[in-house]
Amino acid sequence: MSKDAIRWVVKDSSKPNVFWPSEEMKKKAWVSDEKIYEEAAKDPVAWWAKLAEDGIEWFKKWTETFVHEPPFYKWFVGGKLNICYNAVDRHVKTWRRNKAAILWEPEPLNEPHRVLTYYDLYREVNKFANVLKRLGVKKGDRVGIYLPMIPEVIIAMLACARIGAVHSVVFSAFSGQALKDRLLDAEAKVLVTADGYYRRGSIINLKSNADIGVEGTTVEKIVVVKRLGLNVNMVEGRDYWWHELMKDAEPYCEPEVLDSEDMHFILYTSGTTGKPKGIEHHVGGYAVQAYWTARLTFDLHDDDVFFCTADIGWITGHTYNCYGPLLNGATFVLYEGAPDYPAPDRWWQIVEKYGVTIFYTAPTAIRMLMKYGDEWVKKHDLSTLRLLGSVGEPINEEAWLWYFNVVGGGRCPIIDTWWQTETGGTLIHSLPGIGPFIPTVAGRPFPGTKFAVLTEDGKQASIGEVGYLVHLPPFAPGMLRTVYKDPERFKQQYFGVYGDTIYYTGDGAYIHDAMGNIRITGRVDDVMKVAGHRIANAEVENAIAQHTAVVECAVVPMPHDIKGEVPVAFVVLKPGYEPSNDLETEIKRIVDKLIGPIARPEKIFFVEDLPKTRSGKIMRRILRALLRNEPVGDVTTLMNPESVHRLKEIIWLKRS
Ligand code: WT7
Repeated sequence: MSKDAIRWVVKDSSKPNVFWPSEEMKKKAWVSDEKIYEEAAKDPVAWWAKLAEDGIEWFKKWTETFVHEPPFYKWFVGGKLNICYNAVDRHVKTWRRNKAAILWEPEPLNEPHRVLTYYDLYREVNKFANVLKRLGVKKGDRVGIYLPMIPEVIIAMLACARIGAVHSVVFSAFSGQALKDRLLDAEAKVLVTADGYYRRGSIINLKSNADIGVEGTTVEKIVVVKRLGLNVNMVEGRDYWWHELMKDAEPYCEPEVLDSEDMHFILYTSGTTGKPKGIEHHVGGYAVQAYWTARLTFDLHDDDVFFCTADIGWITGHTYNCYGPLLNGATFVLYEGAPDYPAPDRWWQIVEKYGVTIFYTAPTAIRMLMKYGDEWVKKHDLSTLRLLGSVGEPINEEAWLWYFNVVGGGRCPIIDTWWQTETGGTLIHSLPGIGPFIPTVAGRPFPGTKFAVLTEDGKQASIGEVGYLVHLPPFAPGMLRTVYKDPERFKQQYFGVYGDTIYYTGDGAYIHDAMGNIRITGRVDDVMKVAGHRIANAEVENAIAQHTAVVECAVVPMPHDIKGEVPVAFVVLKPGYEPSNDLETEIKRIVDKLIGPIARPEKIFFVEDLPKTRSGKIMRRILRALLRNEPVGDVTTLMNPESVHRLKEIIWLKRS
């Protein structure tokens, strides 16, 4: 590391492991005055109105800033805008025209990287918007996007936004079946995919998954990006090559004038049932939150190089690998491949290669890279870094300190950002110019937003008391507006616990100190975070239940060194079937096929029966406790208390 690397943080003089922004950071940061919190809190609606005006170019100003009809809410009502126009056109009219927008790093080291300037992006997006129109896509139509981390994924998303089509991006590592479920629910008209892509040196045949995915759906046309030059099946009249359609596309497409509350995109995420829900984000509020959180949370400036490692298939990818940086006219790295390919220093090599200043990743990745050892990091000059971010699950102290000391050289703040697919942008974290930065403590709510930690009976929890994290009105503008085609589920899931004016996050938390910094303890519902991925227990259970040998099963999370938690399945077999390794493999394969390898159970216990209440509800709580070797509590009220002893033995046998 070069000796003149700037220190962006200082140690607290009295408390160990508490850090504050240095003078240099305060000087550089967009905000460094603590008063911002107080000012925003005085009138949050007026505060967001000011941000909306300053950050976004509107074709027409809104008439009402915030409208609350519990449980529903709207922002910037009557306002007209286009996100694509704000993300691209706005910049090509300025000196940023030839500024790098995307620094694309392919996985193979011998392939050249690609730089797309804002002007390049402008040209490609206009053309692809015209391609979509020619394929019959109109405002409000849904377009499925099933693409790896290549520039075309950004182009496709922006092109949708330009014509007012609704994109539904599906993670490229999801199976064809998982894609199909989402395309069916979204009733997508067109799918954009690729022939394949590289992952950890091997070739993934994406188009063959896509073919499974579109079967029996409303998808009429498929656009295929040639990433690898694979020999893929192209159906005449249905499938088209991206590059062929682009060849004779018109160069300009007028951006659609959209309403602030028009739908912008759907992104599916796991709820507490087996069916993923389509989280619906709308144009105006999302644009405002994406712009301002990218800017203030990461202190994003024109001279920064932002590298967010999240896949575009997740909300983090949407907001910080596409909309947030682009709305700000920033430069960001888009990396195609795995963090440890060809070696565990790939990310650090990328940081060095592009002079990355802001690096944003997940605790699971930090733990994995930590295991590989410090020498991989130390091989590289990371002195350009000035800010590190974390997201996706609670970060443990050991990983925090390693990230801080080894990756950040003890110089960079860690912004531990709590948020959700539902919230659209970051919401609880310290601000870079204000602090504090404390391991495992996320920080305070974003200025202009209000959160609380409530007890079971709805009272404010005291400092240090674990309770339920809730978001209070006026909800952040980027919050989901509903669950696609299922307002009832929206109501139940988020406003069914404390009433229709209190948004229930599903997370446990406690207030850490008198300043109001919040520590997140993790999900309190039947949702797991597996390597940062959100997976419902019920989704995995539904998949396993598809196997002919299975009567019933229960899936619970088990702590894991690197992934945070992993799914473990308890399976009851039909009479006539015997537990075996083959059966275990088959069950894992079914999960791979129906969801994807990220949901594959780490272990499968074949059991005679599952602990149940008298009404027949499976007691997952007991299974969790058994796995963790924790006390199970009173089991006498169970329908089958004896099952618990048998389970204990089985778990013990498999361990030893
Ligand atoms: C859930 C949301 C938000 C983008 C990625 C995940 C957990 C997220 C943190 C954090 C502790 C966190 C919560 C949340 N989570 N960030 N900084 N500290 N927990 O989005 O897949 O919708 O998952 O991730 O449990 O509810 P998601």
